[in-house]
Amino acid sequence: MLEPRIFNFSTANEIIDNAEKILESFKTDIVVCIRGANLSIEDQHLVAQKLGDVFGWAPNSSEPSGEQYVESHKRLENKESLSGDEVFLNWHMEHVEYDQTNFPIIAGIWNMLTFTTDSENGKTYFYDTANLYNNLSDKDKDFLSRCDCTWSDYLREDPYVSQVVQTHWLTGEKVIRLNLNERSTIPGNLYNFDNRKPTEDERNYFVGLRDFLVKTIQESTQDRIIHKWQQGDLLIPDLFKGAHAATGGFSSEQREFVGIWARPTNWTARVILES
Ligand SMILES: [Fe+2]
Repeated sequence: MLEPRIFNFSTANEIIDNAEKILESFKTDIVVCIRGANLSIEDQHLVAQKLGDVFGWAPNSSEPSGEQYVESHKRLENKESLSGDEVFLNWHMEHVEYDQTNFPIIAGIWNMLTFTTDSENGKTYFYDTANLYNNLSDKDKDFLSRCDCTWSDYLREDPYVSQVVQTHWLTGEKVIRLNLNERSTIPGNLYNFDNRKPTEDERNYFVGLRDFLVKTIQESTQDRIIHKWQQGDLLIPDLFKGAHAATGGFSSEQREFVGIWARPTNWTARVILES
């Protein structure tokens, strides 16, 4: 079991002054925690912008408007009946479909304003999909790199198509981008292989590999990064390569954070059109 790197910075200015240090940790550790930050929402936006100048994301000083949301998982009632070691918010990657039609979500700036349950409850799990790629055989790396997949999502009816292996926007690593949506509904299937329609053997090989990757993310505890929250934590996860999930044991009143999404300032993903 791994844990995020923890920095103890208590003001927005201290965080901003240490942006380079945070960046170095972010590149290798997937998720960085600033403990005792206790930021106001206004300061959270300021930190997101100033880090954006250094990390190369929006919001930043020239695009200051951050996309803010509140997360207390109100819609998922089962979190209260599950324990702090059971996943209630399934493993997912943040909107893989945005690669085509929107800029993807590449990081979060999560400000835990309320956390009044035990730190063993409401944990967030992360899994590094750059490691997932690196641990594959050369044959499977090569196979997956040629795959464009079609996915369906509960949020939209139309299938969409994306590259399974993509290059990380900051580190240049090869990253696996799987649509593990939070309800784990419809698995992806092979759409194109080498920019042509796949053979039956290629389709079948993809399904086996896809199921192995999903199972590894869900079940491999040895490479899992586990964050145990405290009130006032500012968590900065890499959501381009960070699959994530959350565990139960709390009610919505006990755990609420304000998040800001970070997106790339420019994006050159290959657009794959359905034919
Ligand atoms: Fe998420």
